[in-house]
Amino acid sequence: MKKFFKWTGILIAGILILISGITFALQFKTYEAPYPDIKASKDPVVIARGKYLALGPAHCADCHAPENKQALVAAGQDVSLSGGRVFKFPPGELYAPNITPDAETGIGKLSDAELARALRYGVDRHNKALFPLMPFQNLSDEDLTAIISYIRSAPAEKNVVPEKKLNALGYVVNAFLIKPVAPTATPLKSVKPDTTAAYGEYLANNIANCKGCHTNRDLKTGEFTGEPFAGGLVIESVKDPLHYSLVTPNITPDPETGRMSGWTQEQFLNRFRMGKLNEHSVMAWGPFSRMQDNDLKAIYKFLQTVKPVKKNTGPVLIENKI
Ligand code: HEC
Ligand code: HEC
Repeated sequence: MKKFFKWTGILIAGILILISGITFALQFKTYEAPYPDIKASKDPVVIARGKYLALGPAHCADCHAPENKQALVAAGQDVSLSGGRVFKFPPGELYAPNITPDAETGIGKLSDAELARALRYGVDRHNKALFPLMPFQNLSDEDLTAIISYIRSAPAEKNVVPEKKLNALGYVVNAFLIKPVAPTATPLKSVKPDTTAAYGEYLANNIANCKGCHTNRDLKTGEFTGEPFAGGLVIESVKDPLHYSLVTPNITPDPETGRMSGWTQEQFLNRFRMGKLNEHSVMAWGPFSRMQDNDLKAIYKFLQTVKPVKKNTGPVLIENKI
């Protein structure tokens, strides 16, 4: 009997060592993805479009501006994207890098194609998969060009941002579950802004990430698990992440449980003009308050066409179980 335990023990230890070995080896896994044919432009019109997208609907500043500038972000003001915000997830801590043109600490040494590949294919400068926090895979060539042109044109700022810190779960997730997210179809050359539901869908899914927060997801991998826009995703408070979390509301047009049930287009626009009302909220209300009326109208129109889902997501603010 003793012998039996000894051999099973050795076997289990062997398997554990093997799994750890594979997990370790897979940390070095690299990916191949095409380099998009995107070149930054110096045209002021293109740069202005890029600035509007980056500091408005695409809310880069919400993540890529430092923690001590977040009051400016919340007020909808211009800020530099010098990095430093930390995101705590079950797999560990992720840091939004410095994306100003500083050569040492920012993106100064990256080519336009490398930047475009990171945003479109989720593969970073070291050919590693980026964690799926950004929804820009299906941006049109024109909008991707505009955003990269704006980033290149901004002043360089030196600011060292730490590398991501993964815990034991993070190493396993990184090894087996995180894969670069690619576009769902060949991205279009250009998507013209207008007030149609189709443009609203483009904004809500690929730029403003309404879908990414208002749909339930597995927080370990970022995978979508819930019905689109039916809410229920739990995200830690930005003000007191230790004690509180928020539950994203259902924004499908369900008359009973949809948060926006009965809202007119005007009420929707007004709500966006008010900015953040719940101080714990993680929604990028500051950047969104810069959005043009036409963009908001398009999003409103699109949300009316989404499949209504009956789902009561309960109170918005909940206490964490510690
Ligand atoms: C929800 C937060 C969030 C938003 C919004 C966001 N980013 Fe990021 N970004 C991150 C994080 C976190 C990382 C690092 C991910 C990782 O390490 O796996 C990152 C990585 C990057 C990288 C990769 C840099 C490298 O080292 O290769 C670039 C480029 C980038 N972001 C640009 C942008 C731009 C441009 C925007 C707006 C159009 C934007 N990001 C919006 C959080 C965000
Ligand atoms: C980073 C995550 C995140 C993103 C991105 C996001 N939301 Fe939200 N949203 C939340 C959370 C959390 C709440 C609840 C707290 C609050 O009201 O601020 C919320 C609340 C709302 C509400 C209810 C506001 C109220 O006063 O009751 C509406 C409407 C809404 N979001 C629409 C949108 C739309 C449209 C987009 C895209 C343009 C979007 N959200 C993007 C997280 C997000």
